[in-house]
Amino acid sequence: HSPSSDIILRINGTSHSLTIDNRTTLLDVLRERLGLTGTKKGCDHGQCGACTVLVDGERVNSCLMFAVTAEEREIVSIEGVAALPDGGGELHPVQRAFLDHDGLQCGYCTPGQICSAIGALGEAGRGWPSHVTEDTATGVADASALDAREVRERMSGNLCRCGAYNGIVEAVLEAAGAQGAQDT
Ligand code: FES
Ligand code: FES
Repeated sequence: HSPSSDIILRINGTSHSLTIDNRTTLLDVLRERLGLTGTKKGCDHGQCGACTVLVDGERVNSCLMFAVTAEEREIVSIEGVAALPDGGGELHPVQRAFLDHDGLQCGYCTPGQICSAIGALGEAGRGWPSHVTEDTATGVADASALDAREVRERMSGNLCRCGAYNGIVEAVLEAAGAQGAQDT
C-alpha cells in the first residue's frame, strides 16, 4: 500500500478534489482521472514534450511532475488555452497560427507544441537573446524580434515525428508578431 494524498488541483479554471497515489504524475491525473486527453503521452520520460502543459504560466513536462506538487498552482492544458486572458475565446492565437501555417500533420505532438509555444512567448526577459529586448516600462519582451533560429532553439524540447517543424516555426513566428516569417 503506497501513500496517498487528498489534493485539490486547479485546472483550466476549475478546482478538482482528488485522492491520489503520491507517485501519480500530473499527466496521468489529467488523462486518466479527469479525462483531459488533449495532453498526450509520448515517451513518459521528459524526452518528447508531448505532455507539455502550463503551470503558473510556465511550460512543464507533465509526465515529470508529481501531481501533489501541482497543488495550489494554476494549471492550463490544451483544453484551456483559448480561455487564457490572451486566448481569444474560441481558438488561442497560437492555435489559429498552427492551423494557418500547417503546423501539424498527425496532430499527436500538437497540444504540447502549442502549450510550449505559449510558454515560450511568455518567457519575457528571461534568457532571451539580446536582440529581443525587454521594454523597461512594461516588462514585456518584444517577441516580434524573434527569428526562426531562436524559435527552433526555444521549441527544441518538443519533438514532432511527422517533421512538421517548418510549419511549427512559422506558426510561432506569426503568433509572436514577428516580421518576415521564414520561407518554406
Ligand atoms: Fe512527457 Fe514525453 S510524454 S516528455
Ligand atoms: Fe505528427 Fe507532430 S504532427 S508528431
